[in-house]
Amino acid sequence: MKFFVDTADVAEIRDLAATGLVDGVTTNPSLVAKSGRDFFEVLEEICDIVDGPVSAEVAATDSDTMLAEGKALSKIAKNIAVKVPLTRDGLKACKALSGDGIMVNVTLCFSAAQAILAAKAGATFVSPFVGRLDDIGSDGMALIADIVDIYDAYANFDTEVLVASIRHPMHVVDSAKMGAHVATVPPAVLRAMFNHPLTDKGLAAFLVDWEKTGQSILDR
Ligand code: E4P
Repeated sequence: MKFFVDTADVAEIRDLAATGLVDGVTTNPSLVAKSGRDFFEVLEEICDIVDGPVSAEVAATDSDTMLAEGKALSKIAKNIAVKVPLTRDGLKACKALSGDGIMVNVTLCFSAAQAILAAKAGATFVSPFVGRLDDIGSDGMALIADIVDIYDAYANFDTEVLVASIRHPMHVVDSAKMGAHVATVPPAVLRAMFNHPLTDKGLAAFLVDWEKTGQSILDR
């Protein structure tokens, strides 16, 4: 399973990438606005830090302008994945961009029917938003299970399921159990995944006992 970090905060990306556990990054217009930074500048910096796919979202809603924006974004670095919304125009742009060999992340997916269309349009990734479905009383993870099952049934569907709108570690665990290819994880959720009180307690006890031995591993 691949881990993408869901942020446009370069300091956070640099810090988390240093763990060696980050396979890519996703941004969206809200995250870019939150960063307060120039879009192209931020993307250049992120693409320098992370070798894997870095999603950059178009701002247009018609396919011709999405295509032009997608081509402009793809020139920033070879690891840019152009993000388009799951609309008719978005899928038209997806088909054209993926035909040109550009990675495409189809975002704002809320149904299995939409995910089928994204795969048909040659998307590299489809992003179902689990948290936003949970927010309105729908079962976000049930959608992931459906999409994974459907994609598994067709050898010619190469689109990877990128679980988005993740709110807590259990969304990541459940995604992994279902065989989703990628989870894009907000920095706070990724940090929370490292923690367990029994790890802290166990480590404290081991350190106390090691001290009692009076030995040093490096003084050999
Ligand atoms: C990532 O690609 C999505 O834009 C992001 O996960 C959406 O998350 P949110 O629902 O918390 O805004």
